Amino acid sequence: MYASFRSIGAYVPSEIRTNQWFIDRMDTTDEWITKRTGINQRRIASKEQLSSDLGVEAAKIAIDRAGIKCDEIDLVLCATISPDYMCMPSTACLIADKLGISDVMAFDISAACTGFIYALSVAKAFVESGMKKNVLIIGAEKLSSIVDYTDRTTCMLFGDGAGAAIISATDNINEAIIDVRCSADGSQKDLLMTPGVESGEKQFMQMKGNETFKIAVRTLTNDVIKILEKNNMSNDDIDLFIPHQANYRIIKAVGDALEFRDEQKVLTVDKYGNTSSASIPMAINDCYESGRLKLGDTMLLDAFGGGLTWGSAIVKFAAK
Ligand code: UT7
Repeated sequence: MYASFRSIGAYVPSEIRTNQWFIDRMDTTDEWITKRTGINQRRIASKEQLSSDLGVEAAKIAIDRAGIKCDEIDLVLCATISPDYMCMPSTACLIADKLGISDVMAFDISAACTGFIYALSVAKAFVESGMKKNVLIIGAEKLSSIVDYTDRTTCMLFGDGAGAAIISATDNINEAIIDVRCSADGSQKDLLMTPGVESGEKQFMQMKGNETFKIAVRTLTNDVIKILEKNNMSNDDIDLFIPHQANYRIIKAVGDALEFRDEQKVLTVDKYGNTSSASIPMAINDCYESGRLKLGDTMLLDAFGGGLTWGSAIVKFAAK
C-alpha cells in the first residue's frame, strides 16, 4: 500500500494588510520591508475567525476535490502554532467536529513552519502501514493572534491562512508520495519561540531573525541535497520547488544554491507573508488554481522553523 497526495485546498481571510499599515504605526518603510523580506501584503483573520475556522474552509475544498465524503476520513491532523485553545482541545478535534467527522483519531502537530511536512510524514506512515485510508492534513494559522505588534523586527513578517490536503491509500506506485524526511534540534530553541505561561512574559512570538535567516538558508539547501541524493533524483526530476514562504531572500538564496530554474520556483510570500504551517499547502493551492500544478507533477517541498525543525518531501500530485 502506498500513500498518495490526492487533493489540495486553501483559504485566506478577506482582510488585506499592506505594508502601509505598519508604516502608519511604527518606524519602518516600504523599502525596508520589501527589500529585506519581499512581502507586500498579508491576510488577517477577523476577531471571530480562529485557526480552526480557517482550517475548516481549506479542508472543505480539499475534501471536495478529492471526491470523498467526510465519513470516509479516518484521521485528522492539524499542524499549527496558533491553536484556538492553549494545549487542549486540539485544533484538529475542533476542525473534525465542525466538519461532522466523528469517532476518528484527531490531533495537532507542533512543528512550527515545518508542521505541514511533519503532518505529511505522519499521514504517509499511517496509510502505508494499512491503519488509515484517507487522512485529512491541515496547516492552519492565525498568527496575528501571537504576533507582537510592538516588535517592528518580526510583526510585518506574518499573516493568517490555512491549507489542507487529502492523503489516501493507493496500490499504484506511480501515484505514491516518493519520500519525506523530517528532523529537529531542540538545542536551538531560543532562535524562534513563544514564551511559556510560567515565564511571566506575553505569549507572543520572538525571533532572532538574522541568526535564523542564516541557519534557514543552510539547512533548507542541505536538506534538499540529501533527499534528492537518497532518491537518486536531480533538479530536472522536479516540476515545482515549493519552499516554506518566510522571506524572498531565503527562497532566492536556496533556489540559486540548488540551481533551480525560475519556472520551477514557487513564490507566494509577497502576497501572504509567512503563514508558518499553512505556507506550503497555500502555495501548492496557488499553483493548482493557476493551472501551474498538474496531475502527475513532482513537487519538492522544503521547510524550516521553530524547534528547530526542518523537513523536505518529494511528492507526486495524484489528483483524481
Ligand atoms: O518561518 C521560520 C523561519 N523564519 C525565518 O527564517 C525568518 C528569518 N529572518 C528574516 O527573514 C530576516 O532576518 C528579517 C527580515 C527578520 C530581518 O532582516 P535582516 O536582514 O536579518 O535584518 P537585521 O535583523 O540584521 O536588521 C538590519 C537593520 C537593523 O538596524 P541596524 O542595527 O543595522 O542599524 C534593524 O534595527 O534593520 C533594522 N530593522 C528595521 N528597519 C526598518 C529591523 N526591523 C526593521 C523594520 N524597519 N521593520
